[in-house]
Amino acid sequence: MSSIIRFRYLVSVLLVSFLISATPAVAQQKSLYERLGGYDAVSAVIDELMVRLIKDKQLGRFWAHRGDDGIAREKQLVKDFIASKAGGPIVYPGRENKLSHKGMRISQEDWKIFMVHLNGTLDKFQLPPKERNDVLAFIESTKKDIVELP
Ligand code: HEM
Repeated sequence: MSSIIRFRYLVSVLLVSFLISATPAVAQQKSLYERLGGYDAVSAVIDELMVRLIKDKQLGRFWAHRGDDGIAREKQLVKDFIASKAGGPIVYPGRENKLSHKGMRISQEDWKIFMVHLNGTLDKFQLPPKERNDVLAFIESTKKDIVELP
């Protein structure tokens, strides 16, 4: 083999191994937002969850006597919050959870009921186990900023 052929051979081997090693890494980098199905999917899940929360006997008090537009605005913000935290191309324009829930006196019991509705909603949309666990883990991570009472 002449040295120029050997050099070309070496370059192609290096190129192929680079491509083989790079491809799975790129494939694994899909964000939770993409894995959930993008904004429409996030939006449908939040619409369903909010209907359940507002109808709930114990949690309904948080939304009692609020105007339709106020609720629509909140829903939009929750969608943007989830979409941006899940890695979507969204800028969340609202307040951070600690500030927006401060003084609502949300209790551990309220949180438990909230999680029952979230689980029921995820059941309805039949999320695959990995995405379901990722969503639940993310929501759990927000609890410290939302629950104020034992
Ligand atoms: C028991 C659980 C929860 C209750 C009772 C609750 C209740 C509320 C209420 C009543 C508002 C409207 C506040 C306002 O208009 O000033 C609100 C806003 C909001 N909530 Fe929650 N929430 C709960 C859990 C969560 C969780 C788990 C998240 C996020 C993962 C979340 C994200 C938000 C966001 C992004 C807003 C809008 C903030 C803004 O107005 O700037 N909430 N929540």
